[in-house]
Amino acid sequence: MSSALHASEAVAVAAERRWAIVVVLIIAALVLMMVVTGVGWSAMPPSRVETIDVKTVHLKGEFVESNLGTVLNADGTVTVRLIGQQYSFQPQCIVVPAQMPVTFRGTSTDAIHGFVVGTTNANTMLIPGFVATFTTTFPKTGEQLMPCHEYCGTGHEAMWARVQVIPAEDFLAKARGGERLSCVPR
Ligand code: CUA
Repeated sequence: MSSALHASEAVAVAAERRWAIVVVLIIAALVLMMVVTGVGWSAMPPSRVETIDVKTVHLKGEFVESNLGTVLNADGTVTVRLIGQQYSFQPQCIVVPAQMPVTFRGTSTDAIHGFVVGTTNANTMLIPGFVATFTTTFPKTGEQLMPCHEYCGTGHEAMWARVQVIPAEDFLAKARGGERLSCVPR
């Protein structure tokens, strides 16, 4: 009887030791991953990170004033380009089509800003020196507020723009000329 008890105790001790070794190995692997990715990515950012020179954002390239806003590209895709700066968005009002994929491309020229479009899932940070981009589809027409959602200074709570979601056919009719679209006067 007592020898059977000892045998089962030995099995339990061996099993616990095995699990202890497994857990230590898992923790060691996680720490190693943190060290490798932390050191590696700080030396070399992950791929698909787009950088931009803050000093020349306004002067040349993609984010000059005449190139901001919404455009229907030659291949039929829709791109919105915008800048966040203390304490406004440029442009102040953005027109997008409903039920069509819309790609946002944005950056900041001073502090970290961010935006969310109303109750949609369009949401990103705008970081100086980087181009933030995402593609989303707005299911419903209507006007949405687009507030800055990263604290960026004393004027943060007054920093917001509007997004007008209009029917896709109206948008396409307006956009065929290839110009940047601005909001309809209200
Ligand atoms: Cu911009 Cu808060």
